Amino acid sequence: MFEVTNLSPKVGSEVRIDRASFVNGTHAREIERLLVERSALVFREMFLTDEEQRQFASTIGEITLQGEEGVSKISMDPAVSLFADYTRGAFYWHIDGANDPTPAKATMLTAKVLADEGGDTLICNTYAAYDDLPEADKQAIEGVKVRHALEASQRLVNNQPTVAELTRWRTRPSRTHPLAWHHHSGRTSLLLGATALYAEGMSREDGDMLLCRMQEWATQEDYVYRHKWKVGDFLLWDNTGTMHRADWYSLDSDRLMHRTTLEGEEPVR
Ligand SMILES: [Fe+2]
Repeated sequence: MFEVTNLSPKVGSEVRIDRASFVNGTHAREIERLLVERSALVFREMFLTDEEQRQFASTIGEITLQGEEGVSKISMDPAVSLFADYTRGAFYWHIDGANDPTPAKATMLTAKVLADEGGDTLICNTYAAYDDLPEADKQAIEGVKVRHALEASQRLVNNQPTVAELTRWRTRPSRTHPLAWHHHSGRTSLLLGATALYAEGMSREDGDMLLCRMQEWATQEDYVYRHKWKVGDFLLWDNTGTMHRADWYSLDSDRLMHRTTLEGEEPVR
């Protein structure tokens, strides 16, 4: 069984597949192709174990070694996740590893525990958003470079850091990327989000307005898939042509996701 249903015209598809074929990679090439085409793929109520999640992930890329052999616990509880602090930044649109030279290829989550309220995951297709931009805007953003830093996303949740906090954020290197990412495939996506600190070579006023305008454009309803979780759901997205965020949920929540990330394959240029 391998059935695909598009969930909206421009982003998101549901895939129905039998568990064995999913885990052993029978349809890995189709899944990779669909991932780039549809930005987000939903596999409902798969109830994957960590080992099955790793097995599937390795059929479509190289697993980033984080957490327990490539499976990280995403939680707001510092007793569960060392990075609970940083996780609050995920309430804002972002790309995973935007300050890396080669951002992650894809990110995947299995829902283990849900929030009582909120906690949907939203993904926007920035390939489609770029394609639909008026020609004048495509020209306006061509050649624009944006500085990305952890500091920018952390300031959204902690706007008056201590010197120790700011110093800690700045231990993570910042990175300059073009706003319009021209991929080897010939397609172009927008590279922006919460990690965008400023647009280089522009006044702060003009740069901030341009980033704000592009962000608002890219996150219009037409480009966004909202996943309402059930326990056991598996969600996979193409991190190179999207932004994603978690909808607000209580910081006291036990919400728990098991995340695997795939190493980036294409440096930004
Ligand atoms: Fe993320």
